[in-house]
Amino acid sequence: MSDIKKVAVVGGGTMGNGIAHVFAISGFQVKLVETSRELADKALNTIGKNLTRMVTKEKISEKDKEEALLRIQPELNLTEAVKDVDLVVEAVPEHFKLKKKIFAEIDEHAPEHTILATNTSSISITKLAAVTDRSNRFIGMHFFNPVPVMKLVEVIRGLDTGDEVIQAIIEISEKLGKVPVQANDSPGFVSNRVLMPMINEAIYCVYEGVAEPKAVDDVMKLGMAHPMGPLRLADFVGLDVCLDVLNVLYDGFKDPKYRPCPLLVKMVDAGKLGDKTGEGFFKYD
Ligand code: CAA
Repeated sequence: MSDIKKVAVVGGGTMGNGIAHVFAISGFQVKLVETSRELADKALNTIGKNLTRMVTKEKISEKDKEEALLRIQPELNLTEAVKDVDLVVEAVPEHFKLKKKIFAEIDEHAPEHTILATNTSSISITKLAAVTDRSNRFIGMHFFNPVPVMKLVEVIRGLDTGDEVIQAIIEISEKLGKVPVQANDSPGFVSNRVLMPMINEAIYCVYEGVAEPKAVDDVMKLGMAHPMGPLRLADFVGLDVCLDVLNVLYDGFKDPKYRPCPLLVKMVDAGKLGDKTGEGFFKYD
């Protein structure tokens, strides 16, 4: 199914602009859908900066960068954006109602052959697919932050996802220079089912006074060779996202082992969400 040429990425935030970046640098025509001119410009600006970073590191040439930027067409109208694409990758905030509304519109206006993929980090693929009339052409395509750097794409099969759709997403992930790994639809898939309890446990260490945030992170960096400690990573992912995912695990399994640490809840209530607000477990400029 190497006939995927045109892609729409819906949402230009941290994940969406990274996803648009990797498609464009790999030669795909990309429509980047945002809700306002300002947000579209902000996404393009971030992509430009991250491409420049790759030029500086001599991973790509200045010409590669310019060509990649030309392949990205910003779009404010979702209906228009999806009407002639082969693949849609949705990367809007993690709210079921928002994704439901967006997928209903995409399903109505995208061609019949178009594959619909979601970058959700925890919402059920099967439940999202059921919003559309093409649950066999619906799939989870979960990228990792920073998208241009992280090799993994978690490919998640919903209840009805067709084998040929799985195969197409595996092939396209490889064309992006990524390593696709398959998982079945289950709360948190594999990535967040393993990652989030670790982050939660690190937060409990702080909450219970076992160690200061820096000490918790140093243990995991120096003792377990993690590139970032779990608390630095929680700030990087966003404490609100961590809480949302833990709640999905807690609700999905009805198992108290996934209970979000009260300190995490308190920090989210206080608006201390990590990098994006300048403060989480650590402070940022
Ligand atoms: N775009 C392009 N390149 C980037 C980049 C970006 N946004 N961010 C970093 N890079 C590149 C740098 O240019 C650098 O390249 P070289 O190796 O050629 O020098 C390389 O990545 C490393 O960057 P830095 O030297 O600036 O910093 P670092 O060595 O501290 O690495 C990091 C930064 C890659 C983020 C590293 O700390 C890391 O791997 N952290 C863990 C990230 C992680 O676990 N992500 C998954 C989060 S979970 C998720 O996303 C999904 C979910 O569902 C919640």
